[in-house]
Amino acid sequence: MRTDTLDRLNTTMEAQLVRDDHPAGFPYLPPVPSSRYTDPGFAKLEHDELLMKNWLLAGHVSELPAAGSYFLFEQLDQSVIISRAKDGVIRAFHNSCRHRGSALLLEHSGKAMRFVCPYHSWGYSLEGELKSVPDQHDFTCFEKADHGLKPVRCEIERGMIFINFDENAGSLADFMAPQAPQKVGYPIEKMVVKKRLLVEMNCNWKLALHNFLEIYHVATVHAKTLAPHLNSQSFVIALFENGHMRFGTRKKKGESLFQPSLFKPDDIADVFRECTIALPTFPNTFYSLDPIGFSLQSFWPAGVDKSIMEVRLMGWDVDSDEDRAHWDAMDGIVRNILSEDLCLFRSIQQSLTRGTIPQLTFGYQERALYWFEEEVDRRIGAHNIPESQRVAPVLAEQMER
Ligand code: FES
Ligand SMILES: [Fe+2]
Repeated sequence: MRTDTLDRLNTTMEAQLVRDDHPAGFPYLPPVPSSRYTDPGFAKLEHDELLMKNWLLAGHVSELPAAGSYFLFEQLDQSVIISRAKDGVIRAFHNSCRHRGSALLLEHSGKAMRFVCPYHSWGYSLEGELKSVPDQHDFTCFEKADHGLKPVRCEIERGMIFINFDENAGSLADFMAPQAPQKVGYPIEKMVVKKRLLVEMNCNWKLALHNFLEIYHVATVHAKTLAPHLNSQSFVIALFENGHMRFGTRKKKGESLFQPSLFKPDDIADVFRECTIALPTFPNTFYSLDPIGFSLQSFWPAGVDKSIMEVRLMGWDVDSDEDRAHWDAMDGIVRNILSEDLCLFRSIQQSLTRGTIPQLTFGYQERALYWFEEEVDRRIGAHNIPESQRVAPVLAEQMER
C-alpha cells in the first residue's frame, strides 16, 4: 500500500475503535426493495446491462502455465475459451465453431495446440484463425479469413484475468484504478491457484455477495471460527469509484488467520500481516488478503433465486508436504466456514420471494452493501429500472478519492 493509503487506513481505524455512534452527518440509508432479488425482469436487466457490460474475473494466469493451456469460462450462459498462445499472450474466444456452432472444447481445462471442432473437424489456431476445413472445395465463395473465432475482450491486472463482453467498454486498468493502490505490497501475480471449488446456493447472487460485504454477522454466525481471530471493532470501509471497496480489520493473534507456520514471501507489506485487507471488486468478486494466501470468490447468477460461488484458493508457488496438506485441509475449512453462512441464504431468499419482507434495512456497518446496490443502478442506468425498484444514491459524499 502507498504511504498516503496506509495513513488513511490507520487514521480511520483509530477513529473506528473509539466510536460509540455512527458518525455525525452519515446519511440515512433508505430501505432497499426486495424485488431486486426476486424479479426476473430485474435479473434480466442485470444480465444485459450490468454483467454483460462489465469486466468479470475469469481466472488467474497460473491456470495457463504453458502455450496451449486453456480453461473455459462458463458462467452467465456463456462459454468462452481462455488460452495462452505460443507468443505467451492470453486470449479469449467464444467457444463456438464458425461452421455450425458446436463447442470446440468440451473439457473445463486442458492443453490444446489447435482447437479442432469435434463435429466436422474445422481447425483453428491458438490465435483464433481458421486454418483447416475438410473438403473445403465443397464450400462455394468461402474465405477462411472470414471465419475466425469470435474474440472476447481479455485483459490482465496483477495476474488476474478479466473478460468483458462489451466491445466498447473502457480499459480494465481504468476500471480498476480506484482500488489498485490498496493491493500494492501483496504480490498477487506471483501466486498459483491451488484448488477451484464451485458452491451452489439457493439465493440471488447479490444476497450471497451481501454476506461478504459486512462483518456485522461474524460475531453471531462465525463465533467459533472467524470471530476469535478478528478485532471486529476495528472494521473500516473505504468506498471507491466504480463500486469497488476496501475493508480493513485488525487481527487479534498472529500474522495469519489460518496456518501461521506456512510459507509467506518476504515481500509482503506489513499492513497485510497486521490487518485483514479485503477487496470487494465490482461487480461480483471478493477476496480477503492473508499472508499465506486467500480465497478468491466470484458470485454468479444461475436464475433469479439460485447462484454459484466460484472459489479459487490462492497460495504461493512452493512444493512441500506442509503446503499440500494445508491446501487439502483448506478446502474443508473454507467449506465449513461457508456452510455457517450458506444455511441461512435459502430462508432469506424465501422471505423476500414470499413478500414477507418487502424491503431490506441496512445500517452504518452495512453501508458497503448499499454502495454496491447504488453502483448496480448506475451501471444499469437508473432510467432503465422501474422506480419502485431503484436505490436512491446517497453515499457519493462518503467515497474516498
Ligand atoms: S460445427 Fe464445427 S466443424 Fe461443423
Ligand atoms: Fe460469513
